[in-house]
Order: sequence, then C-alpha cells, then structure tokens
Amino acid sequence: MQRPGWFPDELVHAGAEHLDPAYVATYDRKSATDPTEDLTLLRDLGLGEDSVVVDLGAGTGTFALAVAPFCRRIVAVDVSPAMLATVRAQAERLGFTNLEVVHAGFLTYEHRGDRADFVYSRNALHHLPDFWKALALERIADMLRLGGVLRLHDLVFAFDPAEAGRTIEAWLRGASARPEDGWTRAELETHVREEYSTFSWLLEPMLEHTGFDIREAQYRPSRTYAAYTCVKR
Ligand SMILES: C[S@@+](CC[C@H](N)C(=O)[O-])C[C@H]1O[C@@H](n2cnc3c(N)ncnc32)[C@H](O)[C@@H]1O
Repeated sequence: MQRPGWFPDELVHAGAEHLDPAYVATYDRKSATDPTEDLTLLRDLGLGEDSVVVDLGAGTGTFALAVAPFCRRIVAVDVSPAMLATVRAQAERLGFTNLEVVHAGFLTYEHRGDRADFVYSRNALHHLPDFWKALALERIADMLRLGGVLRLHDLVFAFDPAEAGRTIEAWLRGASARPEDGWTRAELETHVREEYSTFSWLLEPMLEHTGFDIREAQYRPSRTYAAYTCVKR
C-alpha cells in the first residue's frame, strides 16, 4: 500500500537487535516471561475456544504459543522476520494450525476476518513515539469488537518528571551483570536514551482517548513497568 512521506518505517524504531537472528536465538534465555498469569486473567475474562486473539509485537511467540491451545485463532504480528521465523518453527513443531504469523507492525497490520476478542502486547509499544502510540492504540481499538479486551504490558514510567533521575538510577542498580542473564545497565541505559517509554500519566489518557476503559493498572515496585487491562467501549 502506498503510504504518505510522513509515515514512519517501523523497522527503523524496532531495535536493531530484534532484527538480528543471532540475538533472537538468545532472546528467550535472556528475557523469558511466564505467560501463565496473563492466560489465566484472559480466560477469566472470557477467552475460550471461539476467541480471536492478536498478539502485537509477538517476539518469539511466548504468549501466542501459550494461548493457541485455548482459542480459535491467534495472530502473531511482528516487524522482525527473525522473531517470526522462531514463532513459525515452534508453531509447526507443536502442530498448531490456528496460529498465524504476520509480518507487520502496530501501524501496518491489517486485521481480517472476525474482529478480535482480545489483543495482547507485551514490551513492544515503547518502540513507537507517543504520537504513533496513540495512532497504534486507535488501530487496536478498531480491530477489537465492542467489549473486547486489550492486555498491555510495557516499560512505562509511573513517576513524576522530578523523580526521573533517582527512579531510573534505582532501576538501573538492579540490572543484570551479564547480558545472557537479563538486561544489563548498558542495555537499560540505551532503552531510556533511545527508545520511547512514556509516562503512565500520558499513556493512560491516550488509552481512554482512543476508546478504552482501563479496568486495571498495575505498576511494578520499580515504577518502570506497567500492565493494563482495558476494555473497548
Ligand atoms: C522486547 S521484544 C518483546 C517480545 C514479546 N512480546 C515478549 O514479551 O517477549 C519487542 C518486540 O517488538 C517488536 N517490534 C518493534 N517495533 C514494532 C512495531 N512497530 N510493531 C510491531 N512489533 C514491533 C520487535 O521486533 C520485538 O519482537
């Protein structure tokens, strides 16, 4: 599709490491997450065998692969071909025929078929600057049915600007010593400096403005991560 000259190339903001097959091969060891709690939460909210689910910024597919046995259709969307190759290989290995892999981004994924009942996104929205986050949230609202649920996790700053220095420093003090074990100080510094984590008090009005009711907002004690359960109104 022809896009205007002011439209961004999502790959430019995607984080070069996410496009690197060597890095992707180590991703799950470095930043494995347990999808069980989210799966339980979404199943409590009605996710079942008829549900259509979209995972935006699916990475290696931790959530998409976990939800596949419980829903009708799961679409794993990511801008990184290397990430998607991992998801595809795992889905084939596990014999999931209801898992689709789509090479696209928050701003370009075109949802087809029945509207989604659930959209999931973990630690990916911060790749977009705020203007584009709002447009991405609007697009997510459009792909969800009324009453559909967005479960959103991200690195979100739940503090005031005056607290930025000491809160970021306290967070960085807890960084991993070795990159193979988790996020190092240098990696987190790069995140703060070059990526687009925003304040909770900016993101939350964006969610409301694009058609969501925030049913629950959870902040980690570090106040650098947030998780939201939002319902499309
Ligand atoms: C930190 S990883 C998180 C992956 C996975 N959701 C998880 O929780 O493990 C961020 C992912 O977002 C993807 N990404 C970056 N920019 C994106 C965009 N504009 N649209 C969709 N995915 C994007 C990257 O390729 C990467 O796979």
